[in-house]
Amino acid sequence: MSKTVLITGSNKGIGFETARQLGKKGFKVFISGRNEERVKKSHEKLISAGIDAEMLIMDISNLESIQRAAIEFMKLNLKLDVLINNAAILLKEDRSLLTNSASIIENTVQTNCYGAINVVREFLQFIPNGGRIINISSGGGSMTDPVGGWSPAYCVSKTTLNMITKQLAFELLGKNIAVNSVCPGWVRTDMGGNTASRSVEKGAETPVWLANEAPQSLTGKFIRDKKEIPW
Ligand SMILES: NC(=O)c1ccc[n+]([C@@H]2O[C@H](COP(=O)([O-])OP(=O)(O)OC[C@H]3O[C@@H](n4cnc5c(N)ncnc54)[C@H](OP(=O)(O)O)[C@@H]3O)[C@@H](O)[C@H]2O)c1
Repeated sequence: MSKTVLITGSNKGIGFETARQLGKKGFKVFISGRNEERVKKSHEKLISAGIDAEMLIMDISNLESIQRAAIEFMKLNLKLDVLINNAAILLKEDRSLLTNSASIIENTVQTNCYGAINVVREFLQFIPNGGRIINISSGGGSMTDPVGGWSPAYCVSKTTLNMITKQLAFELLGKNIAVNSVCPGWVRTDMGGNTASRSVEKGAETPVWLANEAPQSLTGKFIRDKKEIPW
């Protein structure tokens, strides 16, 4: 039986490309997003490409929306082999922790951190022993990357996401569920902009490898280009 993957925020960008690549490898792919029209269009593209794709409407900044999506998923009586927490926001007004409005910091943390935790809490019931959780982080969340100068609330949220990865990896060891963070590199998407150094295909490469090929013993790590990098 084919493996099932759910990718949050996958109507475009790295999430969509990860869905496309995993679909081509035979996964049953659940794409999801907060906007029904956008998700429908992307779902149609995957179906036209011959991919076994389903869609779930889910705004990860809203707990009720996540819970509704989990109820929809439950009706299908499927297991979820891989959950990819990909959805995130990087607000253009996010310039300084000292002068950002509180809402910029709150919205960023609500989506990028609480969103990931809440999706795991609601979907864990479907993830079997030996399953996987992949959190799409960023080099901006690393304590060893050159720190400062861009999108500070976003960078704080990704450092927090990395600790969420560490904590979940520990909590889920007993179920043999591997949990890792990924830095996709700087990727040409709406978030990364068109001057970024990497294609979206390259950005999806490591999440696809983790979902499909990486050893189950690889857990609690921060990974770029299929190799562990410093937190
Ligand atoms: N691009 C880069 O250079 C880069 C570098 C490092 C890390 N990353 C990380 O890679 C991941 C994907 O980024 P990307 O470059 O593909 O960004 P993107 O093109 O902006 O796509 C982000 C996706 O997340 C969705 N999203 C945002 N808020 C959401 C919410 N509340 N609920 C559900 N979906 C939501 C967006 O949906 P809408 O279409 O509705 O907005 C979109 O589908 C993110 O975690 C990002 O932080 C990207």
